[in-house]
Amino acid sequence: MLSADPLLTAEQIAQRVEELAARITADSRRLAPGEPIHAICTLNGAVLFFADLIRALDLPVTIDFVTLSSYGAATSSSGQVRTLRELTHPIAQRHVLVVEDIVDTGHTLVRLRETLSAQQPRSLRVVSLLSKPSRREVAVDPDYLGFSIEDHFVVGYGLDVDQRFRNLPDIRVWSPDHA
Ligand code: IMP
Repeated sequence: MLSADPLLTAEQIAQRVEELAARITADSRRLAPGEPIHAICTLNGAVLFFADLIRALDLPVTIDFVTLSSYGAATSSSGQVRTLRELTHPIAQRHVLVVEDIVDTGHTLVRLRETLSAQQPRSLRVVSLLSKPSRREVAVDPDYLGFSIEDHFVVGYGLDVDQRFRNLPDIRVWSPDHA
């Protein structure tokens, strides 16, 4: 069942995306003047955030996609993170920006950082739209964060339960019908 009111409205999300993009733009100009940022979208959940964020970056940007899975059809992480779809371009010597939907237990982000660092990018930063700090099982945080939220299961703006609700323009709390 979806919450009647959004946890985050489309307007709140849009404003935060602009703020994040401005910070990332400023930092990137300092870190890598004139060089492109290689933005990596973690599919499927980050797809809408990624599309909005990269359009708001005032920088040269190249893109790629990766799919990791720790869930199957369940709603809590197994801690076993699998790569379902690999990157298609090498990242060595690039300035990489990983775009994540949500950091929950942290296993996915730890795994992603390890895998990408091993490929020797010039720099590696992570932006996540959401984080649930109270759920963390491993100590990891994104470099840039949209919103810190309570321990709710949320859907919309790319996030799903069983592949549903990704197309909602806002973010809502989801609970099983029998809860
Ligand atoms: P972690 O490995 O536990 O940090 O899980 C991260 C991944 O779990 C995210 O990239 C999401 O795909 C998924 N996830 C975690 N919490 C939620 C949620 O509240 N709604 C939808 N997906 C979630």
